[in-house]
Amino acid sequence: MNQIQAIRKDFPILQKEEYIYFDNAATTQRPVQVMDAIRDFYENANANPLRGLYDWSIDATERYEHARQTVAEFLHANRSEEIVFTRNTTESLNLVAYSYGLQNLQAGDEIVLSVMEHHSNLLPWQMVAKQTGAKIVCLYPTEDGTIMREELQKKITERTKILALGHVSNVMGVTNPVKEAISLAHQVGAIAVIDGAQAAPHMPVDVQDLDADFYAFSGHKLLGPMGIGVLYGKYALLEEMQPFLRGGEMIEYVTLEDATYAEIPHKFEAGTVNAADAVGLEAAVHYIQNIGFDTIMKQEETLTTRLMEKIKALNYVNIYGSADPAKHSGIVTFAIDGVHPHDVASILNEDKVCIRAGHHCAQPLMQHLGVGSTARASLYFYNTEEEVDAFVDKLSQVRRICGWN
Ligand code: ALA
Repeated sequence: MNQIQAIRKDFPILQKEEYIYFDNAATTQRPVQVMDAIRDFYENANANPLRGLYDWSIDATERYEHARQTVAEFLHANRSEEIVFTRNTTESLNLVAYSYGLQNLQAGDEIVLSVMEHHSNLLPWQMVAKQTGAKIVCLYPTEDGTIMREELQKKITERTKILALGHVSNVMGVTNPVKEAISLAHQVGAIAVIDGAQAAPHMPVDVQDLDADFYAFSGHKLLGPMGIGVLYGKYALLEEMQPFLRGGEMIEYVTLEDATYAEIPHKFEAGTVNAADAVGLEAAVHYIQNIGFDTIMKQEETLTTRLMEKIKALNYVNIYGSADPAKHSGIVTFAIDGVHPHDVASILNEDKVCIRAGHHCAQPLMQHLGVGSTARASLYFYNTEEEVDAFVDKLSQVRRICGWN
């Protein structure tokens, strides 16, 4: 049994071998280690964390804070207080928009983001722009998805106050030059908010090396549970910010008229925290660390190369983005001449193949590409070459089923 076959045994859902799951950019599958960690929390430590003075609550608190420490090390954060648990990337980015953007921007300021942003890293900034009078400035990529240095230099100016950039595009799969962009943003005194939802599951992330001010990702795209997300923020910035949500657990002292707030990160974690899923995310991080990003990236590249080469043989299929499979992070977005992407996905579903079709929560990019929607296959390290071959075989039938020769 090779390493990938052994890994697949950890994923109960992947034992349904008649299915091919190529929608990993939407959500990944979970290994038993993650499910066991959640179950163990509820079976052996379930109590409201951070509140009780009894053993179970203390244990729940320790497990929750241990998960925070693990995530801090995973992102190479300087200290665990820089990790705020949220529900997902969307909530993390909204937190920054509400608690930093609204407080610090004014008319005439500019927010620089790319046309490739997921709506999660666009709509919160539209709200900030509308409420403060700031302006959104858009970065455009070349045809292969690259944002060039000249484009960054042209758009990041003395007026820029926020750079909001996806690390990896959920449509093109391209890795954006975030380190370079962050450095240019800092040169003009702006802060950088990085959407790492599609990057953190696929490559090592070092927030200190990137010098990111904020970095967000979701647990469920990284083998973890749905409903737990992460916001990394630099300590000094988080300390200065106002809370996002207000209520239980995030306070220091409350009177009828006023309140003082808890230290970070608790100031940003109002209400009962999602400790069980934080512990599940910790198990997911350990699982990924045990496999190692070298193995993950190598397998993704092997699979993407095979997929793109085989798709190229179908001359009616157009792949978006770079011709280099190494620049796709396992994401291959495509169109079939004469077949609507929703039909592609529905026909493949008849063969138990799971891909995503639509605008991928990136409508400005669809407008830029001149399409309403696309089909997207997104791979992860537990996919196999056999699945790629079967997928292309089924894909090659789609046009015929739609009545083309
Ligand atoms: N953002 C996720 C995707 O790209 C849901 O599919």
